[in-house]
Amino acid sequence: MKITVVGAGAVGATCADNIMRRELAEEVVLLDIKEGLAEGKALDMFQTATLCGFDTKITGSTNDYTKTAGSGVVVITSGIPRKPGMTREELIGTNANIVKGVTESILQHSPDAIIIIVSNPMDTMTQLTLQTSGLPKNRIIGMGGILDSARFKTYLSMALDCPPNDIHATVIGGHGDTTMIPLTRLATRNGVPVSQFLDEATLQKVAADTMVGGATLTKLIGTSAWYAPGAAVAELVESIVRDQKHIFPCCVALNGEYGQSDICLGVPVVIGKDGWEQIIDYKLTDDEQATFNKSAEAVRSMNSVL
Ligand code: NAI
Repeated sequence: MKITVVGAGAVGATCADNIMRRELAEEVVLLDIKEGLAEGKALDMFQTATLCGFDTKITGSTNDYTKTAGSGVVVITSGIPRKPGMTREELIGTNANIVKGVTESILQHSPDAIIIIVSNPMDTMTQLTLQTSGLPKNRIIGMGGILDSARFKTYLSMALDCPPNDIHATVIGGHGDTTMIPLTRLATRNGVPVSQFLDEATLQKVAADTMVGGATLTKLIGTSAWYAPGAAVAELVESIVRDQKHIFPCCVALNGEYGQSDICLGVPVVIGKDGWEQIIDYKLTDDEQATFNKSAEAVRSMNSVL
């Protein structure tokens, strides 16, 4: 399979690197509008093949979409990232134009691709792609919840002083500082609810830290993060190309599920070769459902500026 990553910036390049190291494709195409950037990063990455032991070919392209023809999966990371103090929502105007244009160009050459949206504000960019691309809804997946869940698991493991991989936990809802919902009730340490180890105040702090997890990194680094975002995209791509049927929280079009319609929002879905294949019902409590509805309202109001 050929996989295209649009945007060779911090997130796009890291994402391509992870996809190559996992050998998820025969060929990866990295595309950017900035002259030479994608070619340079692709060549640098290809030169790690003999060092890291993979055979995936990677090529770069400056805005030449013919090179992306026949891609099975396309990851869109093009757009501006936030700076310290900015919210993801402030990126909407610039990134909407970029994401719309990129999607049109991609589909001219890869009409059967599954599209993964990473550019922020991701929920709104996913909605935009659904509205403007004409693609079946199962082939449009917004990536944010996998990253937010990874951050949630990391903070939980730090609070519990246990290995991160002992933790199972999920973040649903929007991919925004105030719209994401870390589901503390369902978080477990090797099958045991984390509430058996942590008091309510600690659990609430972990949830709050998770929600501003991206902003914390942006403040420290000066721009948004890329290692975990790139790895999170690769995790999603792997479940598609290997048809693994993992359940991941992803931003998808809701049609009555979780009490919402006509909106793309983060819910647990089965991911396989056809994109997202099924929405899993976590059977939220009334309080969780009310929070989910609030998250949907906030995302809906953001979508209204499209
Ligand atoms: P970056 O600035 O390092 O890279 C963005 C790249 O997009 C640049 O190289 C730029 O030249 C390119 N670009 C701009 N317009 C383009 C166009 N029309 N066609 C092709 N390429 C174009 O930014 P970074 O850090 O890689 O972030 C990318 C996006 O991902 C941002 O919107 C950021 O907020 C978002 N993000 C989303 C996450 C998520 O979980 N969904 C996590 C982290 C970042």
